[in-house]
Amino acid sequence: MNIKQEIINAFHAKPREFISGEELSQTCGCSRTAIWKHIEELRKDGYEIEAVRKSGYRLIAAPDRLSAEEIRAGLDTYRIGQVVMAHDSVPSTQPLAHEAASKGAPEGTLVIAEQQTGGKGRLGRPWHSPSGTGIWMSLIVRPAIPLPKTPQMTLLTAVVLAKTIWEETGVEPKIKWPNDIFIGDKKVSGILTELNAESDRVNYLVIGIGLNANMTREDFPEELASIATSLRIESGKKLKRARFIQRFCENFEREYDDYLREGFERVKSEWEQNSYTIGKWITVSTIQQSLEGKAIGLDAEGVLILEDAQGKRHKVYSADVNY
Ligand code: BTN
Repeated sequence: MNIKQEIINAFHAKPREFISGEELSQTCGCSRTAIWKHIEELRKDGYEIEAVRKSGYRLIAAPDRLSAEEIRAGLDTYRIGQVVMAHDSVPSTQPLAHEAASKGAPEGTLVIAEQQTGGKGRLGRPWHSPSGTGIWMSLIVRPAIPLPKTPQMTLLTAVVLAKTIWEETGVEPKIKWPNDIFIGDKKVSGILTELNAESDRVNYLVIGIGLNANMTREDFPEELASIATSLRIESGKKLKRARFIQRFCENFEREYDDYLREGFERVKSEWEQNSYTIGKWITVSTIQQSLEGKAIGLDAEGVLILEDAQGKRHKVYSADVNY
């Protein structure tokens, strides 16, 4: 582990306490002069660190920047989020995650960026990803599941996002099929799952997550103002983004391990409990047709069941949904 990471971990383990230069140098296995140099570097990175003679160093405030070190400090997982590739500004984290995955990045690798200049949404739509206010990240997973089951991973991710939002903000989100997170009637988060597979073998999935964390109303362009919201707007508080990502990774790991062991049943019931869609009269448009009906629930595989005006039930695998 690098020395910066060790120092940040030590500060996180003892919040608001002074840690002596001697203790830090023992923990990190380096001289006190080296500790002092790294403290100076951390200050340049935006960390506010108090230094008091005879007492040592104390963390006053960490910068509101998503660094690999901040995400890894205090992260309680064994694989999800253990490798973080953090960027300032990139066109999109999705192709970077594909590149990393194809070069063998381990399962659970996270690619994150402060800003995306060409963020991608579903169905070729753009995803507004301004600097410093959101969580724009792509997670690499390598589940040993057959190809037709891969949409279940999107439903699983939506369940984990909804749970983490509720735990971290107290705001109650709803999942709009298949992969949008709503608060009230506005979208706060979206998921874009991309697949790399051969005939019937999944090589890896890149799960792209966009979360409007700390935007104010003025931060949204006019065309989004009436349909999008942020956690800050809804909860009235600024979100600690690094902490949110840690809790998301921990929740994801638990849910994912359970899914790989036990199957889809639990995800299905959690998804249905948090659904915005079930019980609503909706119109779905697929490439072949447009269907209207009431969303009844998911089947055992995660396919949406729609009941039309004549009482006939239809399975909806993938579609654009209107309410
Ligand atoms: C949607 O609702 O249409 C899905 C939006 C997914 C956005 C995320 S942000 C991180 C990752 N990188 C991208 O370019 N897109 C996804």
